[in-house]
Amino acid sequence: MQYLVTGGAGFIGANFVRHLVEHTDHHVVVLDKLTYAGNRESLADLDPARVELVVGDICDAELVNQLTAAADVVVHYAAESHNDNSLRDPSAFVNTNLIGTYTLIEAARTHGKRFHHVSTDEVYGDLELDDPNRFNEATAYNPSSPYSATKAGSDMLVRAWVRSFGLQATISNCSNNFGPYQHVEKFIPRQITNVIDGVRPRLYGTGQNVRDWIHANDHSAAVQTIIEKGRIGETYMIGADGEKNNTDVVGLILEYMDQPRDAFDLVTDRPGHDLRYAIDATKLRSELGWEPQYSNFEAGLKATIEWYRANEAWWRPAKEATEAKYRAAGH
Ligand code: NAD
Ligand code: DAU
Repeated sequence: MQYLVTGGAGFIGANFVRHLVEHTDHHVVVLDKLTYAGNRESLADLDPARVELVVGDICDAELVNQLTAAADVVVHYAAESHNDNSLRDPSAFVNTNLIGTYTLIEAARTHGKRFHHVSTDEVYGDLELDDPNRFNEATAYNPSSPYSATKAGSDMLVRAWVRSFGLQATISNCSNNFGPYQHVEKFIPRQITNVIDGVRPRLYGTGQNVRDWIHANDHSAAVQTIIEKGRIGETYMIGADGEKNNTDVVGLILEYMDQPRDAFDLVTDRPGHDLRYAIDATKLRSELGWEPQYSNFEAGLKATIEWYRANEAWWRPAKEATEAKYRAAGH
């Protein structure tokens, strides 16, 4: 089969393309604009007979139509993905996350193609630290940031296209991913590469915010399971029971990099900072039989630290510009 993977040169998309190459015989066409977050090096070692990179915009209807017509399955990862950037300038988020998704689902409906929409747990807002509930497929949407609001809007577009036009689509809402090929703007790679550079990690606010961590490989396997076995029109939560607060995550990074666990600084909080995310993935586990394979967070974090140590040539070109943006925001 031919898979069209949008955003396949980004963090999670590149890990998904690698998953397809390793675990299936499918041919993969990646459509990626190569924004600051896309990196062709993340795919450079893959067999060109299996993976082709088309540099282009998901808002380009002609290109999207042509690539969708040739595909059997469209898997949609492309997005503006970073909350801090969405607070500085939301415009690219509205264009890519809303207009881009609209452009893709119009093409998928025109050509009658199977579509999978990759989304986030952030569409549900946040939870109190002591709330016994976790997000599930019935939780009401309540996004906080321009990023999560545009992702929520894109989910709603897909749902409406399923109901009104019979689009053959599924949706997944996943928690925070970590692993190789993640841009140095994100929390875990930022702190690892800061420690490599002899800079103290910087935690927003009190450092007590909680994220529900999942390894990118487990996310990839879950998406492929949903594409193969999921029911059309359904939403599936993806999570691996990996709740940790930011102080504990930074403490582990520091410990594994031979620094004192408290060698970090608290800095200005992110405006509107979501307090806690927590996912209940019972539906995915019980209905489709998916189970995480990388749920030892400590082992995954150690491997991720080793990956950043071994792949400085991959991340170094983006580091200074990223830190300059953070300095301007007081982060
Ligand atoms: P990323 O920022 O690392 O990668 C995004 C990719 O999309 C980049 O390669 C970029 O070049 C490409 N892109 C951006 N705008 C484009 C456009 N207009 N046309 C074509 N390509 C474009 O993001 P990520 O962290 O890999 O996230 C991928 C998807 O997974 C997003 O939809 C995100 O909302 C979702 N998601 C992310 C996480 C997470 O923890 N990172 C968790 C749940 C869901
Ligand atoms: O929950 C899924 C979401 O996870 C995805 O939809 C987003 O695309 C992805 O970026 C991620 O969003 P977060 O805002 O949770 O991730 P980020 O890596 O930006 O931050 C994780 C936590 O760490 C958050 O509480 C903010 C905090 N943080 C972040 C940075 C960059 C710090 O304390 N210091 C930092 O330097």
